[in-house]
Amino acid sequence: MTELVFTTSFDESNPSDALIVPFFDIDGSAKSACEVVSFQEALNAITDLGDFQAKSEEILSTYFFEKSQKRLILMGLGEKEKLTPEIYRRAFSKAFCELFKTKASTVTVFLPQKSPLEDLFVNKLAIETYYLINYQFKGYKNLKEQEKNLEKITFISSKEIDSKDISNNFHLVEGVNLTRDLVIQNADDINPEMLQKLAKQLGSEFDHLDVKILDKKDLEKEQMGLFLSVARGSMHEPYLAVMQYKNAPESDLNPVIVGKGITYDTGGLSLKPTSGMVEMKCDMGGSAVVFGLIKAIAALKLPVNVTGVCALSENSIDSKSYKIGDVYTGKGNISVEIMNTDAEGRLALADSISYALEHLSPSHIIDIATLTGACEVALGSERAALFSTSDQLAEAIYKAGEDTSEKVWRMPLDDDYKDLLKSQIADIKNLGNRAGSLIASAIFLKTFVKKDIPWAHLDIAGTTLLSAPRRYHRSASTGYGVRLLVHTLKRLFNIA
Ligand code: BES
Ligand code: MN
Ligand code: ZN
Repeated sequence: MTELVFTTSFDESNPSDALIVPFFDIDGSAKSACEVVSFQEALNAITDLGDFQAKSEEILSTYFFEKSQKRLILMGLGEKEKLTPEIYRRAFSKAFCELFKTKASTVTVFLPQKSPLEDLFVNKLAIETYYLINYQFKGYKNLKEQEKNLEKITFISSKEIDSKDISNNFHLVEGVNLTRDLVIQNADDINPEMLQKLAKQLGSEFDHLDVKILDKKDLEKEQMGLFLSVARGSMHEPYLAVMQYKNAPESDLNPVIVGKGITYDTGGLSLKPTSGMVEMKCDMGGSAVVFGLIKAIAALKLPVNVTGVCALSENSIDSKSYKIGDVYTGKGNISVEIMNTDAEGRLALADSISYALEHLSPSHIIDIATLTGACEVALGSERAALFSTSDQLAEAIYKAGEDTSEKVWRMPLDDDYKDLLKSQIADIKNLGNRAGSLIASAIFLKTFVKKDIPWAHLDIAGTTLLSAPRRYHRSASTGYGVRLLVHTLKRLFNIA
């Protein structure tokens, strides 16, 4: 594991293999964003050439032959007044990607000082970003040489840091990395059985965490007919994992986070074309976020209450598959006409929401799901779709999104859209037409949130698994949602 050290003064007699130095773009030329007394002349000689202008995310990687620190990476932060946390995260990630190309195993990183961002905040941001960029899924490639972790990073900052800040960011990103791992690995391995075992394992690993697993028989007893119908075509039996973390006994808040956990989505009898199926191992992305979130919260020992509910099953094709045109009823006692078996996630979520309402006394319900291709079409991979019946909850999630740059965009839920799901023979259809289909999926879920409990739905179909690595995601699996929901919970529970 990499050792992270913060110090206020640079010790030239104790050289690292590389230096990372931040620069601002001041009126079109690069000016150092920190005090680097000992190297100032050499740095000036480089920036005087004018090639490097310190535009945001611009990087110059070079060598320093006459100095004891051999490698030098200049990191552009753009115009000083315009510096944001996200610009910093991206620039920092670029600098580290340059560093990872070298054989350096120790590095000294100068942090920007007197920038619009508070120095202590910059320290924390640097730790979080390092842990995020350090994740790489080495997976299924036969690599001759595995990349090694850096041995040591020395941060030069005006402010010392509490070692707690290092371990807290480590735990947070370990949660993100669990989510990333679960999403990117083979669907054959990350199946419902494996995930329910993982839930139990978390339960035995952490304090304040109680885990309950419902198997197929339990689900039948609970009359979760919608969820069970989805699972019918698979050789894997379905499970509902309920993970209750209670560490704020004096608070009556108990948010419940429900995750879609379709470990592989073939579409069922409404079989997907090959091109649409390739990325369907990501269809347990919502549950993966719930696992990552619970792990992070429990490792951080955050003084909150939160219950994670994961609906784990496969949507497969078989003679036992549930049928297009038939009507099924689940725990919410609302009959559903199946227009398309590929709209399965909402069925699994509907029963999970009904379960939460009956058994978990939620103060809030947030569900998170790779629910619709239409979401990806509408918002791409930059923002998830947010639907909510509560302005207050929506605002908490929105702000958490801006803070973490796991951004959301709120979508409408007007009752007028209910017409999209009118059925001739059942209370509701599971699908309308193409028009408004993202909204229709949320309206469907809302129908099952019968009580007057603040509810939000996050559609992460576009943000969970990217088509290629990007920014601080060196693997396409982003873990999107973990940092968002940790920050949302902090806001709900008023934790700094
Ligand atoms: N799991 C998919 C949605 C999805 C698409 C997730 C792309 C991640 C990336 C969902 O179950 C699904 O199949 N939705 C269908 C619904 C359709 C039948 C109305 C879709 O969006 O195409
Ligand atoms: Mn589907
Ligand atoms: Zn799906």
